[in-house]
Amino acid sequence: MSSDIVYLDGAFVPAQDAKVSVFDRGFLFGDSVYEVIPFYRGVAFGLEPHLKRLEHSLAALRIPLSIDWPAVLNELVTRNGGGNLSVYLQVTRGDAGRRTPVYDASMQPTVFACCNPIRNIYADGPDGVAGIAVIVTADLRWHRCDIKANGLLPNILVLQQAREAGAAEALMIRDGILTEGGSSNLFIVRSGVLYTPKLGSEILGGTTRELVLELARGAGIPYQETDLSYENLLEADEVWISSSTRAVVPVLSVDGKTVGDGEKGPLWRRMFELFSQFHHRLMTGEE
Ligand code: PDD
Repeated sequence: MSSDIVYLDGAFVPAQDAKVSVFDRGFLFGDSVYEVIPFYRGVAFGLEPHLKRLEHSLAALRIPLSIDWPAVLNELVTRNGGGNLSVYLQVTRGDAGRRTPVYDASMQPTVFACCNPIRNIYADGPDGVAGIAVIVTADLRWHRCDIKANGLLPNILVLQQAREAGAAEALMIRDGILTEGGSSNLFIVRSGVLYTPKLGSEILGGTTRELVLELARGAGIPYQETDLSYENLLEADEVWISSSTRAVVPVLSVDGKTVGDGEKGPLWRRMFELFSQFHHRLMTGEE
């Protein structure tokens, strides 16, 4: 269940009192962008990269916005009791007063944020992380997947397809190249090397993906950002997905076929440990 207090256009209000116009372009056209940021015990995990990506998304849609996000989000989290929460924020181009595709550049954006309770994955350690099954399906999205836009219909369709197939994520493939999950980035491990699809307009530049690569660099784990095929996936020793609220999750089967030996892999365990250490440093300020 969502928490009680939300932020809307400068005010912190009970969710039931927050109202958006039916002529808001986010509602009519999906003319909007969003972010999902985890907070553990009230402390943001990776706020800066999320805000940087938000800036990228807003610039791509040419939505002008000036706001003190850290102040707003910290206040929102505090008003919702701190703790382990994912903060969802959305910025739409605003209320045009009527339905018309072209917009007036001087429109006032609508700014919304709310919280949802999440599990603190770092509290339970690697044994608390369940490996998942995934399916692979066609990537039906547009060619600006680097923008974190709200037009999520293709993602919703493939995630529902996964759910109905008893899987937790749908990996998408376009022109024979794997792109990403419906709500996550993809990694595979082969002979001790980590591989992930390269950045570009076909995938979202995940903040967790970036952290995986940063931690791999620090720990001397070799990695490559490159095109990956379905065969690469089936031949992998390990497969992982990454996203803000889940960190790195081991994939144990792809389209019903077992990955590696069907257990959480040793490199995933190492990466989870690196994430846990990173989280510990964030919470304690220790080096
Ligand atoms: N999704 N790719 C897609 C398509 C995503 O929707 C997400 C995140 C990611 C991972 O990005 P990050 O590591 O910055 O969370 C990759 C969020 C969590 C969502 O839509 O709920």
